[in-house]
Amino acid sequence: MNMTDASNPFLISGYISPKYFCDREDETKKLVKNIDNGNNVTLISTRRMGKSGLIKHCFEQRSIKKNYTTFFVDIYATKSFNDFLLLMSKSICEELKSSGRKMLDGFLLSIKSMRPEISLDAVGKPSISFNMGNVTNPDTSLDEIFKFLNSSAKPCIVAIDEFQQITNYPQTNMEALLRTYIQKSPLTRFIFSGSSRHIMGEMFNSAKRPFFASTSTIYLDAIPKQKYIEFVQNIFEENRKKITADTVEKIYDLFEGITWYMQKVLNLLYSETAKGKVCRHETVDFAVREIVASNRYVYSENMFRLPDKQGKMLIAIAKDGNVVSPTSSDFIRKHALVSASSAQSALYGLLEKEFVTRDERGYRTYDMFFERWLKDTF
Ligand SMILES: Nc1ncnc2c1ncn2[C@@H]1O[C@H](COP(=O)(O)OP(=O)(O)OP(=O)(O)O)[C@@H](O)[C@H]1O
Ligand SMILES: [Mg+2]
Repeated sequence: MNMTDASNPFLISGYISPKYFCDREDETKKLVKNIDNGNNVTLISTRRMGKSGLIKHCFEQRSIKKNYTTFFVDIYATKSFNDFLLLMSKSICEELKSSGRKMLDGFLLSIKSMRPEISLDAVGKPSISFNMGNVTNPDTSLDEIFKFLNSSAKPCIVAIDEFQQITNYPQTNMEALLRTYIQKSPLTRFIFSGSSRHIMGEMFNSAKRPFFASTSTIYLDAIPKQKYIEFVQNIFEENRKKITADTVEKIYDLFEGITWYMQKVLNLLYSETAKGKVCRHETVDFAVREIVASNRYVYSENMFRLPDKQGKMLIAIAKDGNVVSPTSSDFIRKHALVSASSAQSALYGLLEKEFVTRDERGYRTYDMFFERWLKDTF
């Protein structure tokens, strides 16, 4: 086994190589074509559908590797412009490390205002640190970063994952500021990806916002069922195992084809199927129960920590699946909730904590395994 082999071919986090990646051929082509045509792209889907994976997969395409320098920045954990700049710089450093010291040093020199410090670890690998307080003039730092990107020998592609996060920064002019820099960077391409269709939609489709109509949008749907079945059966067969088509179909129907849930169940089924054996649809329920059971302590802890009203609301939403209007009088009566206004504030709390998500079909429990546990337990 070499470094690029996975111990289980059904990945449940990250990206390794095209070998473990199912389909997305059309989406990959579309993304690459937009980049080649000089368009910035917005990538939107429900949670866990495969946005981050798709970006990494695109970065692995031969034409992209040959013609561009690529950067992937996941800003989910950032809370301010300051965090954003630090993370952006760190991500660029990480990427440049693999291109050699010269590129890295060039970047470090160009972001002087952030005073990066470089040190060598035990095996002589450079490690970069920033003194947290060092972003004294964020506008200058942003300017330096963009100057570097725009002067790169090969054009750069910068993917900013979880882009909706910038709307939570205390700085109110973030969108306008970034938009200005992006407009001044015709050689650098941007991919903005995010899971909140609501927030991302507002940012890119509302005429009042700086990013309005500035990108092409790609909505990522579930991988087609037939493609997933082929992918799974091939992997099993390559490893001298078998899985029936109706087994994959059953998982697909249970989880609406959402990639992460598919992968999670398949990962377990794969490890439970011995070489020479066949995995059949009866095992799916067992696998799902296993996964739910292995998380039961986390789930009960979650419930224990939630205020009473939020707990009741979460159970009600889990029981109904997709809820169009959790503050309607019908829903309140059906689940014996207190009032529309308390339902409203409970819902708000649950959205904030990401126990509940919202898309065009309504409100739903964020995690489908958690949803299953809630249904079975209450
Ligand atoms: N085409 C694919 N084939 C196989 N596995 C995939 C594919 N796309 C994504 N995955 C796997 O599915 C899981 C979820 O994918 P990913 O993290 O890309 O989704 P996401 O939309 O970015 O999720 P989030 O909303 O949580 O950011 C990961 O474990 C990833 O390895
Ligand atoms: Mg992601």
